[in-house]
Amino acid sequence: MTRPSFGIRGTGRAVPDTVITNDELEKLVDTSDAWITKRTGIKERRRVDEGKGVSDLAIEASRKALDDAGMDPTELDLIVMATVTPDHPLPATSCKVQAALGATKAAAFDISAACTGFMYATNVAAQFLWSGTYKNVLVIGGETLTRITNYEDRSSCILFGDGAGAVIYSTDFSCGEVRSTKMEADGTGFDVMIQRAGGGLLPCTPELIADNQHKLVIHGREVYKFAVSRMVELVRDQIERNPDLELGAIVPHQVNMRIIEAARERLDLPSERIYVNIERYGNTSAGSIPVALDEARRTGFLDQHKGKLVVMCAFGAGLTWGSVGMRW
Ligand SMILES: CC(C)(COP(=O)(O)OP(=O)(O)OC[C@H]1O[C@@H](n2cnc3c(N)ncnc32)[C@H](O)[C@@H]1OP(=O)(O)O)[C@@H](O)C(=O)NCCC(=O)NCCS
Repeated sequence: MTRPSFGIRGTGRAVPDTVITNDELEKLVDTSDAWITKRTGIKERRRVDEGKGVSDLAIEASRKALDDAGMDPTELDLIVMATVTPDHPLPATSCKVQAALGATKAAAFDISAACTGFMYATNVAAQFLWSGTYKNVLVIGGETLTRITNYEDRSSCILFGDGAGAVIYSTDFSCGEVRSTKMEADGTGFDVMIQRAGGGLLPCTPELIADNQHKLVIHGREVYKFAVSRMVELVRDQIERNPDLELGAIVPHQVNMRIIEAARERLDLPSERIYVNIERYGNTSAGSIPVALDEARRTGFLDQHKGKLVVMCAFGAGLTWGSVGMRW
């Protein structure tokens, strides 16, 4: 039996209105706009206001995706949400989204794979769509990373921002036919990026909070090397698995402009083939690719690559990495 084809039926994105500029970070830590711009490419990032959570961004992005798809929420069979900053440890944020959308027929669960979250969630959705179990799956990637960022640590606080993107994958699709997916992990790198306190092993105490153990710690230089080689490998793997397609464009995880540039040079690709928006949003982890994908689609960037291979690829805490190859 041939497996059903599926692709993108609708996309949407949501970022908070509040902007944190590099100049504002200069007031918090010993850094400068010049250093941040040169070392990361980031000029500003967004932050959710008090009282808001990632669910607010996810709901807004999903409503736009439903509108774009011209679908009623009751047509959704499943909602998979990738996030490491859920509204609450339990229940899953995707259930809140399901209720707000009125997606009464959809099952809902969350996935934790950090910056690779949207790739993992798409891999999972693909199994339900290719097997014929479901026809319409809403996949969301979103974060409120500013809530777990340590604004006393200059090497990490400059990087992160908030945002969410949503994609409706469907057997009744209009673009971006998903051809091949990949997800991998190496748990020996568990400590490379970690939020130590706040889970079942180390519940938050006043002492742990005073020591910022509930905030994110990253070993940036280790991530840097891992990220460049993984991005190159992931793109090459997708090219090999789609020999009938010419490479069109890449929508990578928006991690650091220098990482993206180093990988681009190794892949010997011109910069206009890689979609980048890191200067405006920083690294929004699971939100990064779906926000970039929605922009790249709505601005017409991806339509320049019709019939070609479009690769999405990401890497992050866990360590985890993954990719999706689409025929645009
Ligand atoms: C974090 C990152 C921007 C640091 O850039 P880098 O070029 O690797 O810089 P280094 O860590 O080698 O630090 C170089 C110097 O800059 C300093 N520095 C670090 N952050 C700084 C800042 N915001 N402003 C000014 N100086 C800074 C360091 O203290 C160091 O000083 P030293 O040489 O006196 O010790 C970069 O490694 C990165 O983007 N890594 C991956 C990001 C990541 O982990 N993302 C999340 C997972 S996907």
